[in-house]
Amino acid sequence: MILRINIGAYVLTDAVRDAVNSLSSDRLFLRSTVSVWDGGMTGALEYLSTRSAPELLIVETQSHGEALFEELNGLADVCQPGTRVIIIGAENDINLFKSLIEQGISQYFVDTVSSAELKAAIADAFTDKSAVAKSRTIAFAGLRGGVGSSVLAHNVAFELANLYDEDVILVDLDIPFGTAALSYNIQPQQTIAEALSQAGSIDEPLLMRYLETGGKNVSLLCAPGHLNSGVEVSANSLELVLNVVKQMASYVILDVPHMWNAWTQDILVDADETVVVGVPDLYNLRDGKNMIEFLSPNRGVEVPTRLILNKVGEAKKGELSDKEFKEVLGMAPTLNIPFDADSFALAMNNGEMLRKVAGKSKVAQAVESLAQVVSGKESLSRIKERKSSGLLGSLFRK
Ligand SMILES: Nc1ncnc2c1ncn2[C@@H]1O[C@H](COP(=O)(O)OP(=O)(O)OP(=O)(O)O)[C@@H](O)[C@H]1O
Ligand SMILES: [Mg+2]
Repeated sequence: MILRINIGAYVLTDAVRDAVNSLSSDRLFLRSTVSVWDGGMTGALEYLSTRSAPELLIVETQSHGEALFEELNGLADVCQPGTRVIIIGAENDINLFKSLIEQGISQYFVDTVSSAELKAAIADAFTDKSAVAKSRTIAFAGLRGGVGSSVLAHNVAFELANLYDEDVILVDLDIPFGTAALSYNIQPQQTIAEALSQAGSIDEPLLMRYLETGGKNVSLLCAPGHLNSGVEVSANSLELVLNVVKQMASYVILDVPHMWNAWTQDILVDADETVVVGVPDLYNLRDGKNMIEFLSPNRGVEVPTRLILNKVGEAKKGELSDKEFKEVLGMAPTLNIPFDADSFALAMNNGEMLRKVAGKSKVAQAVESLAQVVSGKESLSRIKERKSSGLLGSLFRK
């Protein structure tokens, strides 16, 4: 989830100022504006008497009893109906707390607030409880065009559905050039273009009509795959569609095109797992460094960002090693996927997955490992341990 809200904070103490300022570096607020002023409640009332209130007001006050209620009445006069308010106050009284909540105050903190508490309170105030995603979202993006990000996304979708017997929806976000339908040998009747054009009224029954079946447990929201669909993707319309998709399956795989704009950035920051695919050469090293430098601070540590090196072994000489990627990116590639033109060509020409056309190949095994890694069900060290003794040891470099 990425919130797009204006936050105005009127503080009295350094601790609360620091807690508010820390919001700016959290991915939840990547697209929000956070403004902090001194003056607490008095400052807020004065400022808002001549300007409209932001969507979220955070106000610190030292007042007690009647004085506090007078301040809150004053605040109610200057707020719009939809404004949410979080108060940091001096009075520790459960009855006061109850009556504040009844008055529409989203949360009341006594004395001070930590950044984690503040973040949780804001998320709570702005989350539609009925729309909390029940799925794990995994986004795939290539560091450069043609590195194999899409075909890996399509195969991982298939693997997850088979390994864990859970529903998977694969969303092809590459509107003009997407290949998910080709990978699964589908001629889509409806595509994501229809879903986006109905974004304002999209719900599960409507979205069901746009999904195609890709096999047991796998559904696809295909791309039109032609040049004149007339679809303009916007961060807002995409978010509306994806919020519904995320209610409908255990896993949502996002095949993100090699583009750099607001909505691709939002997706890569917001996903539960972001898988960045590159090939082991200098161009990918530079772009990998830029990508990780963008994603790491925005995503934080609690949600994984992974680098996968694909087509390893294609260039007989001059390939960069895992060690070189690790030195420059500060992150070792999670997995190496070998170059295997025959298996990939066969899969493409048959419109089938690697597991079906070349189940025993090293690439099919590597894709299975990748699915296990991103599933969130198995730890990387367990998977490595299991496979490191056998044929697949070389997939996981030291
Ligand atoms: N490990 C591999 N060995 C051999 N061929 C591969 C491998 N991985 C991917 N390919 C092939 O590389 C080509 C490009 O793959 P794909 O379309 O998935 O790349 P992409 O990164 O999504 O490209 P785009 O920038 O167009 O979105 C395909 O023909 C695919 O079969
Ligand atoms: Mg692609």
